[in-house]
Amino acid sequence: MEEIILKIFRFDPEKDEAPYFKEYTVPIRRGVTVLDSLNYIKDNLDRTLTFRQSCRSAICGSCAVKINGKSMLACKTQLFEIRTGEIISIEPLGHFRIIKDLVVDQNLFFKKIKDMEPWIVLDHSKQLPINEFLMPPQNVKELKEARNCIFCGSCYSECNAIDGDTTFAGPHSLVKTMRFLKDPRDCDTGRTGQAIERGLFKCIVCHECEPTCPKNINIGQNVIDLRYKAVTNHCAPLPPHKKIMQNIRDTGCSISVKEASTVYKYPEYIKTFKDEPQAEVVLFLGCILNRRQHDVAKSVINILQHNEIAVHLPKNQVCCGSPAIRTGQKDEILPVIKKNFDIFESYIEKGINNILTSCSGCCLTLRNDYPELSRDIDTSFKSKVYDVAEFLTKKIDLKEFTEKINTKVMYHYPCHTRKMGLSEDLYLELMQKIPGIEINRVPSDRLCCGGGGGVRTRYPELNNTLSRRRLQAVKENKVDSLVTNCPYCYMSFDSAIELLSLEEKAGFDLENFYTILARGYGLK
Ligand code: SF4
Ligand code: SF4
Ligand code: FES
Repeated sequence: MEEIILKIFRFDPEKDEAPYFKEYTVPIRRGVTVLDSLNYIKDNLDRTLTFRQSCRSAICGSCAVKINGKSMLACKTQLFEIRTGEIISIEPLGHFRIIKDLVVDQNLFFKKIKDMEPWIVLDHSKQLPINEFLMPPQNVKELKEARNCIFCGSCYSECNAIDGDTTFAGPHSLVKTMRFLKDPRDCDTGRTGQAIERGLFKCIVCHECEPTCPKNINIGQNVIDLRYKAVTNHCAPLPPHKKIMQNIRDTGCSISVKEASTVYKYPEYIKTFKDEPQAEVVLFLGCILNRRQHDVAKSVINILQHNEIAVHLPKNQVCCGSPAIRTGQKDEILPVIKKNFDIFESYIEKGINNILTSCSGCCLTLRNDYPELSRDIDTSFKSKVYDVAEFLTKKIDLKEFTEKINTKVMYHYPCHTRKMGLSEDLYLELMQKIPGIEINRVPSDRLCCGGGGGVRTRYPELNNTLSRRRLQAVKENKVDSLVTNCPYCYMSFDSAIELLSLEEKAGFDLENFYTILARGYGLK
C-alpha cells in the first residue's frame, strides 16, 4: 500500500522545553481521513500522541487542526485530497493556548460565545404560546446557516482581527449573535450593542475565515448583516463611519481631500493613439485613485492607452459605496449606487460594455454588491465589470513589456481580490512578464493589511499592528519592494511604514502594481 509522511506538532509542557515536529509514516488510500491516520499512529506507532475527536462525522467540531497550514476538520479531510507532496504537516489550531500536542485550550473561545448570551430571551410581558412557539419556515430557513455552526474553531484560528487584538469577539460569536437576531422568538434588544462592545467593528471583513468553515457559513456577510442590524437599532454607525457617509453625501467621495480629482485632469474620452482601439472601456477610478493616488491613476490610464484601449472617464462618478456597505450603512448608500449605475448604463446603452476599475474594493463592490443591493441592477451587470489586470490578461492582446526592471518584489494579494475569485497568479504572471523582475513567492501567505471594513478609521492601531506583520515578512525575505494592486492596502502599509524607525524603514519601497507595470512599458 502507498505511504505518506505526517509531520506532526508535538509538545508536552510537562516534559518538553519547546515544541518540535515528529514524522510518522502512515498508509494512504482513498477514503482515509487525517483523523483515521492520527488514530492509526496512536494505535500502532506512538501511544503518546494526543488529539481531540468524538463524532468522526463533521458534527461535533472537536477535531479541527491545521493541515498544511490551513485550519480544517481532521475527520472531514481525506489525505488524498490534500496531498501535494511527500509530507503533510499537522499542527494545533492558531490563536489557542496549546495544552498538549494537537489539543488546545478552548476556554476563551467558548467564553466569547457565552458572553454573547447564546440563548433565546423571551419577552414575558407578552402572552406566550401555551404549547409550542411555532416559527414560519421562512424564519427557520433564514437562521439555518448561522445555526449550523459546530464551534470547531477553524475560523477563529484563521482570523486576522484576532491576530492583532485578542479581545475581539471572534467570527464564531458574531455568527452566533446573528443567529439569535434572526430568531423571531428572541426579544433581547441589547444584542447589537453588546456585539459592538465586544468588537463587532474590529472585523476587517477580509473573509479569511470563510474558506476554512466546514459548514460553509458566509461569515463576512453575517458580520455585515449584524452591522446593518446595529445601524437599524441605532447603535451604529460609529462616528468615523458616519463621517465617511457624510463625506460621500456631501462630495461624492468617501475621503476628505481638498485637491482636484483625477477625473478633471483628463478629458471624458481619452484616445492618444492613432489606430483603431482594441477595446473601448469605461474607467471607474474609485475615491483613492481619484483623490489621493493620482500617480497610480495616471499609470492605469497610460497602460490602457499603450495597449490601444480607448478610455471613457465619467466626470460624475462617485464613491462605489464599499466603506458604507461594510459598515452597515447599505440603506444610506442606495442613491449613490443608483447614481453610478445610471452612468454605467448610459455607456452600456451605447454598446460600451466593459467597466474597468483597478481598485480591488471597488471591483468587488460593483460586481457583487450592486446586483445584490439594488433590485434595478440585473446580475448580468457582474459580467461587465473587470479588474484592470484581469481585462489586460483575458480580454486583449497585451503588448510586451520592454523595459528591464532589476528588482526583487513581494506581492501583497488583497483580500478583496481573492474574494472576487481572481487568483494571485494572475497578478504574479503579469508582473513576471516584465524583464528583470524577480518575485518572492511566500507560500500560504495571508497577511491582510488590516485596514478594511472600517477598521482603518475606527481602530487605526489594529490596522497598524496587522500591516506590520506584512512589513516584517518583507524585511525577512529581503525584497526591494512590496507591491499591491489595492490602493487601500497601499495606504495601510504606507501609514505603518511612517511609524517605523529610520533603520526599520531602510532597504525597501512600497509600490502600486500598476505603477510597476507602467515602468515595465517605459511609461511614467
Ligand atoms: S472576516 Fe477577517 S477579521 Fe472578520 S472574522 Fe473573518 S477572518 Fe476575522
Ligand atoms: S463558523 Fe464555521 S469555522 Fe467558525 S466555529 Fe462555526 S463551524 Fe467552525
Ligand atoms: S470528530 Fe467531530 S467534527 Fe471531527
